[in-house]
Amino acid sequence: MDSFLIRGGVPLRGTVEISGSKNAALPIMAATLLTSEPCVIHRLPDLSDTRFMVQILQSLGASATLEKGTLRVQARRIKGYADYELVRKMRGSICIAGPLLGRLKRARISLPGGCIIGARPINLHLKGFAALGAAIRIEGGYVEATARKIKGASVFLGGRAGPTVLGTANVMMAAALGEGITVIESAACEPEVMDLAVFLNSMGARIEGAGSPTITIHGVRQLHGAEHEVIPDRIETATFAIAAAATSGDITLRGARAEHLRAVLDKLQEANVAVDRNGSELRVRRRGRLKPVDVTTLPYSGFPTDVQAQMMALLALAPGISIITERIFESRFMHVSELARLGAEIEIEGPSAIVKGGKKLSGAPVMASDLRASAALVIAGLAASGVTQVNRIYHLDRGYEQMDRKLRDLGARIQRVEES
Ligand code: EPZ
Repeated sequence: MDSFLIRGGVPLRGTVEISGSKNAALPIMAATLLTSEPCVIHRLPDLSDTRFMVQILQSLGASATLEKGTLRVQARRIKGYADYELVRKMRGSICIAGPLLGRLKRARISLPGGCIIGARPINLHLKGFAALGAAIRIEGGYVEATARKIKGASVFLGGRAGPTVLGTANVMMAAALGEGITVIESAACEPEVMDLAVFLNSMGARIEGAGSPTITIHGVRQLHGAEHEVIPDRIETATFAIAAAATSGDITLRGARAEHLRAVLDKLQEANVAVDRNGSELRVRRRGRLKPVDVTTLPYSGFPTDVQAQMMALLALAPGISIITERIFESRFMHVSELARLGAEIEIEGPSAIVKGGKKLSGAPVMASDLRASAALVIAGLAASGVTQVNRIYHLDRGYEQMDRKLRDLGARIQRVEES
């Protein structure tokens, strides 16, 4: 398994190009199953998750190629079930269920299972499918949804932790080809949901209200092929912005959409980091001593849970007490023990982490556990003195395109070590 070797202490300087959003790309790739016509998707990030989704589309019978960030796909004829092994390995593949149900009136996929950050249930997805008239059966590790026809309905999709992003995407995609009007209450408002709605409407769907808590879908008889460019990755943008702040750097993020990460930029400014917006460019630089801040993760447009770990790495450097409260997932503090190996002082109190910031971090071997925790360890390694080895960076490769190359272009001393 590959690892990163980082010699910290170098302020990041220069310009970085932000890639297309992984969390917008996956549901949009799934949405191409809703038509038998060809679709072209641009600015697709080259990640293990997107390459995996290409394999899943192919296993369903679609022709699909991903080259230089462009996906060309045509689901002329498809089958209603995906390869158990493929789907089981990537949670995000749950978003093929909606399109399969919408187009074929049946979907059979392996239960995605939990992951290290939480149980990751799909009860709200199934509630939405049932509201549209599907019968749901769970057996042998599979979930099967079948419907004589998809009938528009009103459904409340709010759960114990607020809205569901992929649940909203799934119901939107299933309802797009349904009969009648579907209203999703307590819909997720993330930019990735909005981007999916833009793509679906370009295919001939009639969706209103995406980005708000109430989305209305007027079902249509069929959808046609379309071309689309995926929005920039707001989590990658936040990750590089925080890395610049952590290393006392000064970087320009090109192709970013600052309006998609207002909560993060607001917190960075509160922590005494300078943020200047200039169209699709964002300049982030350390202004002086970092200040401690309190962060609570919330559904969009609140502070994103996918930036919680990275922010914790930064606040470990801010002299004083910062309190980080995780309200979306039940166990998203796996990075705390690894940050402590670099010298960070953090105590967990239920859903909160109390960060006693200001200690000097020093390099050590650390273990990545999930995608965003890995990013936090890279940020801490960049700020620490000495050498940090981040092991199991396959987690990172799922969601960050060429992170080591991009960091090297900003002056970081980081090498990928391929384990023989
Ligand atoms: C999406 O996951 C993202 N993944 C996650 O990013 C992100 O953390 C999450 O949204 C929240 O923003 C993709 O888009 C591929 P949810 P999703 O359904 O849709 C509970 C990353 O690092 N819930 O919005 O699976 C759930 O347990 C990944 O890029 C139910 O209770 O998340 C959680 O507590 C990690 N029942 C909360 O809702 C359900 O049926 C939010 O989950 C579904 C979800």
